[in-house]
Amino acid sequence: MKATQIQTYGGPETVTVTDIEPPMPAPGEVVISIKAAALNPLDLKIIAGYMQQVFPIDLPYTPGSDFSGIVQAVGEGVTEVNVGDRVFGRTAPTAGGALAEQVRLPATDVRRIPPEMSFEQAASLPTTYGTAKQALTDVAKLQHGERVLIHGGAGGVGTMAVQIAALAGAHIIATASERNHALVRELGAHEVLDYRLDDFTRLENIDVVLDTFGGETLEKSWSVLGPKGRIATLADFSIKARDGHEGSAVFFSTATPYLADAIAQFQRGKLQVITDAIFDLADARAALEKLATGHARGKIIVRIGG
Ligand SMILES: NC(=O)c1ccc[n+]([C@@H]2O[C@H](COP(=O)([O-])OP(=O)(O)OC[C@H]3O[C@@H](n4cnc5c(N)ncnc54)[C@H](OP(=O)(O)O)[C@@H]3O)[C@@H](O)[C@H]2O)c1
Repeated sequence: MKATQIQTYGGPETVTVTDIEPPMPAPGEVVISIKAAALNPLDLKIIAGYMQQVFPIDLPYTPGSDFSGIVQAVGEGVTEVNVGDRVFGRTAPTAGGALAEQVRLPATDVRRIPPEMSFEQAASLPTTYGTAKQALTDVAKLQHGERVLIHGGAGGVGTMAVQIAALAGAHIIATASERNHALVRELGAHEVLDYRLDDFTRLENIDVVLDTFGGETLEKSWSVLGPKGRIATLADFSIKARDGHEGSAVFFSTATPYLADAIAQFQRGKLQVITDAIFDLADARAALEKLATGHARGKIIVRIGG
């Protein structure tokens, strides 16, 4: 089967498309014939070799975690899904494997896709919806009526976070570059600031900050917090409470607990999936290069298997 591979760490240029042996399901596993894979910045960090402490991988490695496709084979004892089912999910980053024609993973880690959801939409959800939900609901415990500042409202996680905050009934302020303001408002933001032109530190009384960048963005975010203000960051694992404000790092490890909720919100018409661009598997390197610009609008998708 065709699969992307890296033999050494590096940038997107290290990614090649090659022929490898197709996977066989072990007991409790399924093999999925992949239709779409969605890229995440984590894919680039793993390819670069930056994540070896957290997600150690062996080379050669096939990148990609978020996928959708059709169950092609089931291992012994699998009862969750059947051959032919349309499913989606996320492989463990240490396993990767989504940027390929087939992938294998535990059957308990996939969920059926409802008929009205496309393969591209389904592949877009596991990491983005799961991370945003974990950050805002589980970690920051965002409440109805609270003021939330979402940095990077037009990105993969940001587009989901804005919609999850809207479902929670929060007052949403997001940052994005000008070209994305209409989109972010349509998703539910009440105010959108251009992070290039408009200093967000003029904000005050923010209850929750979702930080997707770390560094200066995180540092400046403390100043906008109100009395109950807290920060959930995706980008700085050394964050500590400051001046009575909670600061928590979000470590997203498994998407499975969030998939049913993502489907439910989609079916209620409460969740839009924004697609920036779609590439073929042969052009996976170009897809990763586009992601590496740091300005994806929603998700970059790799379509696989026609
Ligand atoms: N800790 C975890 O478990 C975890 C989980 C998921 C993701 N993450 C991390 O979270 C980050 C965001 O992930 P993602 O999937 O949303 O990435 P993404 O889709 O690549 O984010 C791209 C977006 O970032 C925006 N952006 C770039 N620079 C910005 C700035 N200075 N201020 C505000 N917005 C800016 C861009 O907006 P414009 O185009 O409008 O400029 C673009 O829409 C990544 O670093 C990722 O690795 C961590």
